[in-house]
Order: sequence, then structure tokens, then C-alpha cells
Amino acid sequence: MALYANAHKLYLASPASGHDARTRSNGKRVRILATRAAASSSSSAVEVAYEKGQLERPKWAGETPLSRLVGAVISFKPVYSLLKLGARQVLISTAEKNGVPWREMTRQILESDVYKELESIQNPSLVYPDYYLSPFHAYDEGNLSWMAAAEAEPATTSMSIRAVPDAKSADEATQVVRGNWLEAIEKHHRQHSGGSMVRDILDIGCSVGISTGYLANTFPSAKVTGLDLSPYFLSVAQFNERKRSQRTAPIQWIHANGEDTGLPSKSFDLASISLMFHECPTRATTNVIKESFRLLRPGGTIAIMDQAPSSKVLQNLSPVLFTLLKSTEPHLDEYYLTDLEGTLREAGFVNVTEVLTDSRHRTVTASVPH
Ligand SMILES: C[S@@+](CC[C@H](N)C(=O)[O-])C[C@H]1O[C@@H](n2cnc3c(N)ncnc32)[C@H](O)[C@@H]1O
Repeated sequence: MALYANAHKLYLASPASGHDARTRSNGKRVRILATRAAASSSSSAVEVAYEKGQLERPKWAGETPLSRLVGAVISFKPVYSLLKLGARQVLISTAEKNGVPWREMTRQILESDVYKELESIQNPSLVYPDYYLSPFHAYDEGNLSWMAAAEAEPATTSMSIRAVPDAKSADEATQVVRGNWLEAIEKHHRQHSGGSMVRDILDIGCSVGISTGYLANTFPSAKVTGLDLSPYFLSVAQFNERKRSQRTAPIQWIHANGEDTGLPSKSFDLASISLMFHECPTRATTNVIKESFRLLRPGGTIAIMDQAPSSKVLQNLSPVLFTLLKSTEPHLDEYYLTDLEGTLREAGFVNVTEVLTDSRHRTVTASVPH
């Protein structure tokens, strides 16, 4: 699977599928301005828009009666255990049905030499925030386990398939999700940075390095750092990077808390946080945003990609699916209630912009004033 391919110019889903409907069953509104052939030669020839729902956020999230009801059901231990198992089963079987060899990918990591990376990656004096030590994503040790690390890549690919259900392949779905996100970042930086180059990039919550690899390929001359709280995830990132990357300046992996990185002020031009904040309590989100402001140079860009409360698809999720989703994501309600744009402004960011970059995700970008 070419997860490090820099194919983000191919950022259209539906023209590739040969449809020309305006509104599709998955709620995505597609404006086709060109054919696939035109798209490969010029990314600006195609425009894809994703439809917003009528609410500010889904009824199943936040503090609504429905959300409380789901919360109460989930908090009942025997039900939680069943849901946890169910969520995991649904995830794996859906992935495999869609061409993601989940168990094979996991086996390859678990039977590799990845374990050797841990010693060079782990910061033994790091103190984990409380929320990070709770069971999470159906793993009792949360992200602090080899199993979670080995399953991170197939889980991420499955997320892309859910976000782009019409894609012809898992690879195409991934290219759409990542391509639109990168496009939003490049556009924002071009418009608001005052012409400054992206020389240093920090990927906060880099997990096993998938987002980091995309950023590195998009900005080939930049120095790229991936930072995460899980030394197991970082071990997989470093292991994969050694195998796959041909970069002259290898990606640097740092085991640290994104809330307080210890890195020098004004040392980055781009701070990216993708698919992390829905896994964090609001106080961690606020701290990471403040820390990013400190770390970025004037004109620097912060880019946050995550679930979009305004997404029509998420607002219309079936009760079975949203209950399964909530059963393994303990901070989802807080995430949906967090005013991300307001938090960015409060931290000092300007030019705050939000765009739906696929049927389920938004990319929020903002700049440090000059
Ligand atoms: C879903 S993963 C991110 C995936 C990746 N950025 C991507 O786009 O594919 C969320 C990551 O955030 C990390 N994380 C959570 N809280 C963190 C914190 N305070 N500091 C650094 N990393 C954190 C987790 O360990 C996990 O690897």
C-alpha cells in the first residue's frame, strides 16, 4: 500500500467513479468541473464540495438527551464490553471486505524487528497525562501497546474508506482524504504566510507516521518532526520510515506531550494536528493549540484535521453506528462541544478558516500574525 505516495493532486472522489450526480446517497455534494484526465494534469481543474448537515453538531454528540442516553447505555459495564468487542469486529471485517488486509498488516508488524526501535525512541522521564492512561479504542492499555501500534495503519486506512465510500480502492480513498487536507494546508500557507517557505514542520500526534509521511512528501525540502505520546506508535513510525523513505533528511521522531513539548519557541513554519483532537479532552486540545502558537514562527500555519461536527454524513449516522463509535471514543462529546475556531483565536491565531475536506472531516487552518 503506497501510503507515502505523494498523490495529493488526485483529490477527487466522484469524477473518478464516473458518476455525475449532484447529490449522492452519502450526503456528499459533488460539483464536477472537469474529468479525471483533466484532474491529473491540473489539480485546480476540479472542485469537490462536501455537504453540511442542518445542525451545528450531530444529535448523538454533546449534551443532548440522545447523547446522554447513549452515554448511560455505554457506561453499563456488560454493555460496554459487548460494544467494545462489536466495534472491533465491525472495524476488522469492514476493513477486510474493502481490501484492507487488517490481520495480515498487523501480523507483519508484530512479527518484525520493530521492538528494537523502542529503546532509542522512548523518553523514560515522560509523565503521561491522566487521560492517556485510560482504556481506549477497545484496547485496555489505550495507545500504550504493541497491538494498538500494529493496528494503527489498517485502522487509519479504514477511516479513509468510511470517509470516501465511493472510492474504487482503499488507496484512492486515502488519497482523497489526505489530498484534500494537504491542499487546504498549502492553500492557507500560500495565502497567509507572506511568502515564507515551509522549512520546519511539526506533526503533533503523528501516531505511526502516516500523516508525517504525507507532509514530508508534500514539502520535500522541509525538516520534518513527528511527535507522539506513544513510544510504541513511534517505534512503528521509525521502523517503517527506515524501510520506505528515501529522504535525505530523515524524519525525526520525538516521544513527548504535545501540550508541553519542550521544543524551542518560533522553530516551526507548520504545525499539523490530524485526527487527534477527537481523542483528547478539551483541556488537552486547548493546551496543544497554545503550545503550537508558541512553537510557530510569525506567518506560520497551524492545520487541524478531524471529524466535522457539521458533516451531514456524521449527523445522519445510524444509531448502531454512533453507539459503536462512542463506545470506544471517551472524549467524543467534549470534542463535539469544543469551539475549535474560538480556541484558536483566543490563543492568538488569525485567518481562521474551516473547510470540509471529505464527507466526515474538516480541516481548520489558522496563522500566527506577522
Ligand atoms: C488517530 S492518531 C493520529 C493519526 C495521525 N496524525 C494521522 O493523521 O494519521 C492520534 C494520536 O494522537 C496521539 N496523542 C494523543 N494525545 C497526545 C498528546 N497530548 N501529545 C502527543 N500525542 C498525543 C496518540 O498517541 C495518537 O497516536
